[in-house]
Amino acid sequence: MRHLMSPLDLSVEELQDLLNLAQAIEKDPERYAHICAGKKLATLFYEPSTRTRLSFEAAMLNLGGNILGFSSADSSSAAKGESVSDTIRVISCYADICAIRHPKEGAAIVASQKARIPVINAGDGGHQHPTQTLTDLLTIYSLKGRLGHLKIGLCGDLKFGRTVHSLIHALIRYPGISFVMISPEELKIPSNLKEDVLNERAIPYLETDRLEEVMPDLDILYMTRVQKERFFNEEDYLRMKDFYILDKKKMELAREDMLVMHPLPRVNEISVELDDDPRAVYFQQAQYGVFVREALILTLLADAGKITLPEKGGASC
Ligand code: NCD
Repeated sequence: MRHLMSPLDLSVEELQDLLNLAQAIEKDPERYAHICAGKKLATLFYEPSTRTRLSFEAAMLNLGGNILGFSSADSSSAAKGESVSDTIRVISCYADICAIRHPKEGAAIVASQKARIPVINAGDGGHQHPTQTLTDLLTIYSLKGRLGHLKIGLCGDLKFGRTVHSLIHALIRYPGISFVMISPEELKIPSNLKEDVLNERAIPYLETDRLEEVMPDLDILYMTRVQKERFFNEEDYLRMKDFYILDKKKMELAREDMLVMHPLPRVNEISVELDDDPRAVYFQQAQYGVFVREALILTLLADAGKITLPEKGGASC
């Protein structure tokens, strides 16, 4: 059974196939509108979510399938003490595929070990968020036309932000990638990611706390929110939450074709005055998240033998 725990579970070739499929869905949604008729996606969300859960659900509905699930631990038997392992065994009887989000790192892996259906990691603590990365890659590929030869600024909470951890893992597989890590000292990228991933592969990167200084060099600026829920004390959060606020003045330093991305939700780190700037693509990015999740659901269900993709001989369940 194939699962998605990390972006690295897909080879570069498989990832390209997935992005091509997502673009095909975007171009001709009707062609894919009934492929999942009779199939069910379960969303098991033990942590808050707007985009990830609803885009998964929208994706399955767009494919003609059905959805079930829960949106908080309180409304599931987790509140009574049920383990993730037990829950997933039961969900395997009710659904064909599931997406799970949990505050504990590794929870999705535990679920995948007991599941009889494909499991997608929809975020595990501060660890990984592979479907946000697929969303980010589709956004970059669609709007820049390439995934290599880019200088990417990652700004904000690089310590707890799982979206940047997954994105780094995914992007270093392309040629000519370099990073500028922009964060306050306390929120720097974890040292194991630097040592085991970036240094190991000799990926060029720079660390700074000065956004303005590096703005003119960037092809993409990926903003993130300070992850309040992963702080041990409120005081530290309050001190750091408004460290970076991207506004019109700072954007004057950026290139005409620099993209501003953000996984959302935004708190204060991007001023709303930027929303109409054509370089601000974070709402478009959320739309790409639906196409790429459609492509992922199709790929995993086809791999499990539950559907046939149209390319391989006609849509059917
Ligand atoms: C992100 C997450 O949950 O990690 N949100 C999302 O899925 N789009 C980013 C965040 O919460 O800051």
